[in-house]
Order: sequence, then structure tokens, then C-alpha cells
Amino acid sequence: MALVQFAGKKICCSRAENLRSVLMRHKPSMRANLYNGAARVTHCRGLGTCGTCAVEVQGELSPMTKIERWRLGFPPHQLDSGLRLACQVCVMGDLVVTKHRGLWGQRFDD
Ligand code: FES
Repeated sequence: MALVQFAGKKICCSRAENLRSVLMRHKPSMRANLYNGAARVTHCRGLGTCGTCAVEVQGELSPMTKIERWRLGFPPHQLDSGLRLACQVCVMGDLVVTKHRGLWGQRFDD
């Protein structure tokens, strides 16, 4: 088991669960917090192509996938930003997850 902290909530999940799935199966407010603005309805539903599920994560995650590396490699993202795509990673231990501002969650000025 692992504990994921996000948007003031604590969620228990299994190790190796997909992070987006963990966050999406909880209360509507949790789902809303994963996506900003119009991305709440326009996101790619976990395909790894839109980049709007980007989050900052403290804790152990699965390695970056090819599609995650591809999507985080072009604007508005930057590969070295430290952000991860929730839809492309698995929870490998306890996590603290932060969503930043901006349609893609790419703005660290908050
Ligand atoms: S939901 Fe589109 S990249 Fe994750």
C-alpha cells in the first residue's frame, strides 16, 4: 500500500497503480484539481498526448515512459522542469503531489 497526498487529501492505493487513475477515482473535487480550466474537459484521457495532467511529485514513481518524455519535451513543458504526467506514471511509494497553475499545470509562480 502507498499513501498519496494531493489537494489536502490523503488517498490509500496499491503500489504500481497509475497515478491518474488513483486521483480520478476519488471525489469530483479531486478530479477537478488534476486538470486546470478547459483541460478538465479537453484532456486526452490518459493517452499521454495533451500534457495537461502534469504534476510535481515528491516520492517514488515508475521511470519515465517514451511518450511521457516526448510530451514533456516540448512547450509549454520543459523536460528538465521536474514535472511528471500523472497518466504515465505508477505509484511506487508514498507521494506528495502538487498541481501548479496554467492550462498544463506548468506555471511554478504560485
Ligand atoms: S491526460 Fe493527457 S497527457 Fe495525461
